[in-house]
Amino acid sequence: MLKFYLETFGCQMNQLDSELVDTLLRGIEYERVDTWDGADLVLFNTCSVREHAESKVYSRLGVLRQVKLKRPGMIIAVIGCMAEQEGKTIAERNRHVDVICGPGQLHLLAGLIQQAAQWKKRAVALTGKFASMSTPLEVAVPYGRVEDLDRERTSSGQTNAFQAYVRITRGCNKFCAYCVVPHTRGREVHRSPEEILVEAKRLAEAGAVEMTLLGQTVNHWQHEYGDGRRVGFAELLKMVHDAVPSVRRLRFVTSYPRDFTVETLQVMAESPRISRYLHIPAQSGSDAVLQRMNRGYTAEQYLGLIERAKQIVPGLRLAGDMIVGFCGETDADAEASLELMRRVRYMNCYMFKYSPRAGTTAARQYEDDVPEAVKQERHAAMFTLQNSICLENNRGMIGRTVEVLVAGPSKMMGRAADVKARTRAVGELQLSGRTAGDQVVVFDGPLGLVGRFVPVLVEDATTLTLHGTASR
Ligand code: 5AD
Ligand code: SF4
Repeated sequence: MLKFYLETFGCQMNQLDSELVDTLLRGIEYERVDTWDGADLVLFNTCSVREHAESKVYSRLGVLRQVKLKRPGMIIAVIGCMAEQEGKTIAERNRHVDVICGPGQLHLLAGLIQQAAQWKKRAVALTGKFASMSTPLEVAVPYGRVEDLDRERTSSGQTNAFQAYVRITRGCNKFCAYCVVPHTRGREVHRSPEEILVEAKRLAEAGAVEMTLLGQTVNHWQHEYGDGRRVGFAELLKMVHDAVPSVRRLRFVTSYPRDFTVETLQVMAESPRISRYLHIPAQSGSDAVLQRMNRGYTAEQYLGLIERAKQIVPGLRLAGDMIVGFCGETDADAEASLELMRRVRYMNCYMFKYSPRAGTTAARQYEDDVPEAVKQERHAAMFTLQNSICLENNRGMIGRTVEVLVAGPSKMMGRAADVKARTRAVGELQLSGRTAGDQVVVFDGPLGLVGRFVPVLVEDATTLTLHGTASR
């Protein structure tokens, strides 16, 4: 058996793509290994959303250049968004890269690898601006289009079988001024309800008890039947919910604020197996910045939606994304973002410094005029605020019993500061899992609890973690 090493960068969409690639490679007699030493095939499933993510891959490629001098037979593949965005640069400056494959072409990957391995010729498959670099495939391709991969997926190589992703939409039509995704993943393609339901049922039968519907703007999903009848996201959510009664947690990410309907909130409120959790990024709290970002809403409209959501779905937990230092952002704009965060009180918020991306509207039209030091300062202020909100939210959970889906041993296992370790019962470990609202909980228990729902009494809390004891 040949060995492959696969490293994934970026969002959940990439994690899912990596699962599909994992299945695909196992299907052509490869087995997965944990390091690239000794691997016949090394793949990086890459992200282009910020420069930092790209730099990491370039540095990995730098190291592999030396490795490949000693092992010339090793195949190196760059797949995902960076392949699409940076394909030309990668090809020109990295002669040792054998396969370059964009996220919309992954169904061709097996053929590309075969081509590179057998004919020692670089194989390229891209959709966007560098599509002309693509090499015509002379090897039979088992999949006609990228969606076929979702359907063929058997087991999941990365995540646990009890947690499953189901893609409902690929690509994005929003063209937020800063964002590279519509350029790398292309326009929206919605899968049909039938395909989604078949996949959801299959994953549920294989043991999934938590299911996450995925889309860059997941709530924008829609479908038109042959007779002209249209269905939207709220109906799909209900259909999936009803089709997989063994799934105790149905979730969906990421939501786009402008298209979020009351019907969806009602379906959430009426369905106990749909998690009361929304990841719904605001990106900024300043109307001027939101407008330059092309987000299509004002801060008040966003806050109105959040208010409505909290009313219709009591106990809703909110997560967001914010960007600091976007082009033209003033001190007052930055303060408006903090004010929005104080009002929403996200349970979790991902905060990013603006990173200009080639090909986006912002890179073309606006100057990246906020100095790095100011970005850093604003990021730090935002971080401090969010940490205090997280800590307050988490401390508010002390004394409550939460239901935890146990994922595995906690990352904190073995830390010297782990006082509890000294009193831990025989056969127990520190386990970690999440609540339906996506809060991380750690507690002591046997490994046999992995994949199970366990009630845990919360006894202590830090900014990122709830600590408790399993009620047995
Ligand atoms: N710079 C910084 N952050 C960005 N994001 C997307 N593009 C950029 C960029 N150019 C952030 C947004 C998005 C998340 C996935 O990444 O907050 O929601
Ligand atoms: Fe990027 Fe905006 Fe689409 Fe999200 S909605 S993927 S931020 S363009």
